[in-house]
Amino acid sequence: MDKSRETIGGMFDRIAPSYDLLNKVLSLYLDVLWRKKALKHLAVKDDEQVLDIATGTGDLALEALKTGGACRVCGLDFSEEMMRAAAAKRDRLGLRNRYLLVAGDALRMPFKERSFDGAMVAFGVRNMPDVGGFFREAHRILRDGGRLAVLELSLPANPFIRECYLLYFKKFLPHIGGLLSGRSTAYHYLRDSVLDFYAPRQVEELLCNSGFTVLRSIPLSFGVCHLYLAEKPSS
Ligand SMILES: C[S@@+](CC[C@H](N)C(=O)[O-])C[C@H]1O[C@@H](n2cnc3c(N)ncnc32)[C@H](O)[C@@H]1O
Repeated sequence: MDKSRETIGGMFDRIAPSYDLLNKVLSLYLDVLWRKKALKHLAVKDDEQVLDIATGTGDLALEALKTGGACRVCGLDFSEEMMRAAAAKRDRLGLRNRYLLVAGDALRMPFKERSFDGAMVAFGVRNMPDVGGFFREAHRILRDGGRLAVLELSLPANPFIRECYLLYFKKFLPHIGGLLSGRSTAYHYLRDSVLDFYAPRQVEELLCNSGFTVLRSIPLSFGVCHLYLAEKPSS
């Protein structure tokens, strides 16, 4: 599967105008609850500097700003169109001075070591060609004791629920996504990238191998999404 910056960035540039609507429709609004849950566990405090990696249209960052006291968020992404949508929402909410958008690749982030108190990534790691390399990069930019929250789509462990979900996911999701966005390739990619992604145990292993301590690993909504909370141990 081609996960180069050109292919992934180009695909998100094309679906940016319909991304938010499709997210809500295809997840039945569960994506909103999943982001809130991730932020509850990340527990951002006043005055903390948080990095939202693969910030996309900004929903996770903006939710953090609403709930995280006086924190400041930096959002990183390489899709200009997704970030344009994020900037428009940010400006409408009057949060320009608390949410900075930076263009860049999560695998080579333009930040010094230990720049952030916390980091988070929602539905981004599945699109990266080297997940272990990304976790090492996230570890580098976090301060000692800093936390990383990772939200990613997954497959339910229960065989019956898994089969029902796979029926929806394989047969219906790409067609609904294609119909509503006019970009069926992107929604075939969504299906294939989830089917192809690591199981939660493997993600935990990658986090540990990158120097993190895994604090929580929580299946959400019968396991169609998974939340990982990890900490960079103090050295
Ligand atoms: C499915 S969207 C998720 C957006 C947002 N986090 C959310 O919760 O809706 C994935 C985003 O990850 C970005 N992305 C994927 N790989 C990336 C990488 N290596 N570096 C930076 N951004 C990346 C894409 O451009 C896209 O905006």
